Amino acid sequence: MSGYYLIVYGCQMNKADAGRIASVFEFNKIKQAENLKEARYVIIIACSVRQSAVNRIYGQVKNLLPLKKMGAKLILTGCLLKKDAVKLNKFFDLIIKIDDIKDLAKKLKIVGKKTITKNYLDLKPKIGKSTTVYVPISSGCNNFCSYCVVPYTRGQEYSRSAKFIIKEIKGLIKHGVKNIILIGQNVNSYKDKKTDFNSLLKKINGIKDDFFLHFITNHPKDTSFELLKTMKTCKKIGHYLHLPVQSGSNRILKLMNRHYTISEYKQIIKRARLLMPDINISTDIIVGFPTETEQDFKLTAALMKEARFDMVYIAEYSPRGQTIAYAKFKDNVSPKIKAQRRIILTEILKKTALKNNSKLIGKNLDVLLEKQNKDYFYGRTKNFKKIRIKINDERPCRLNKITKIKITKAAPWALEGKPI
Ligand code: SAH
Ligand code: SF4
Ligand code: F3S
Repeated sequence: MSGYYLIVYGCQMNKADAGRIASVFEFNKIKQAENLKEARYVIIIACSVRQSAVNRIYGQVKNLLPLKKMGAKLILTGCLLKKDAVKLNKFFDLIIKIDDIKDLAKKLKIVGKKTITKNYLDLKPKIGKSTTVYVPISSGCNNFCSYCVVPYTRGQEYSRSAKFIIKEIKGLIKHGVKNIILIGQNVNSYKDKKTDFNSLLKKINGIKDDFFLHFITNHPKDTSFELLKTMKTCKKIGHYLHLPVQSGSNRILKLMNRHYTISEYKQIIKRARLLMPDINISTDIIVGFPTETEQDFKLTAALMKEARFDMVYIAEYSPRGQTIAYAKFKDNVSPKIKAQRRIILTEILKKTALKNNSKLIGKNLDVLLEKQNKDYFYGRTKNFKKIRIKINDERPCRLNKITKIKITKAAPWALEGKPI
């Protein structure tokens, strides 16, 4: 048994954390194990956003216990609520807070060299072969949306130093990375001394070389006109805005503690489209929040039709311990109705997404080619739409290169095109 093996659940934040955990091991000369069974260290990076995500950890533990008997060390980190940490404690050799990952080697007594960073996000991440890299700029959250665990699992929001972020990105670009995605729970509330999110974007845009710049996730209450103008003027920023709305009903938004109204939300997307007609707008919606009536749901469906989103991540409400919604409201929308509402919204999305994508047929767009199999290249347009390109020997394309592509076909979730 040797090496480490990572099991990553949850969002891009956890994926970025995985790169940092890997680098702690490799810094100490411990390599990635070929497979789970050969690993000396098995690390689960947990997500607690929905109960189903937590259930996956409990499911995984059953597979891991035989390995533990054979000598593997089981480690749990990531986003975890206290009550789950207490319940899971007996199965793991170490439960460690994500912010303490910089001390992981010391805790496991594998210290070769000392890693000196104040903030774990400043650890130099291990990067794979991918041409797209997620760069965390902040972590934690102070918004306390009533349904959400993140402020409890990741704690208070903090922003990384702009200097370190720029240094990391310059290194990545030098390494050949062509798509930088800034991540945080609420990227647009970023603030490091005098550098706010707008000035950070401008600084990154000023880095020489050819690359795409994206960022997720934005909170509508912090999405200023200034930010939209920065998106328009900075040439490297792809016109993609992920702006979670959560519900189309002002009454529900209030109970969710979201701090904006639907008319304010619509105003943002109207302005974004006026400034950037090619903008790709996606959102998150929760169906079946406590007390959500048929009327509230109809407002969400109406908003979806009006907003014509390109993508919507639709979640059924899941009550989460420690949150305000869990303490105050009964989860009174039945699983059947939640599922019905999710299906209705998915049908609306299919139509609007297909209509939006169909308008792109015939256009020539910048595309970054990220992967290939024997038949197709797969990539993203500059405004972050998924696309595939049939491999054609007469017009060869290169992976990891920004290429002009003519759009030939459209489906709700993807485009097809050919090199021009
Ligand atoms: N910080 C981001 C995303 C946080 S979690 C933001 O504010 O947008 C990602 C998504 O999971 C949320 O946008 C929400 O739609 C969903 N989510 C969070 N808590 C949930 C819960 N208790 N039940 C169902 N969906 C939830
Ligand atoms: Fe959760 Fe709201 Fe913070 Fe997003 S903004 S992480 S939904 S509390
Ligand atoms: Fe992400 Fe899940 Fe944590 S969505 S921030 S990994 S709770």
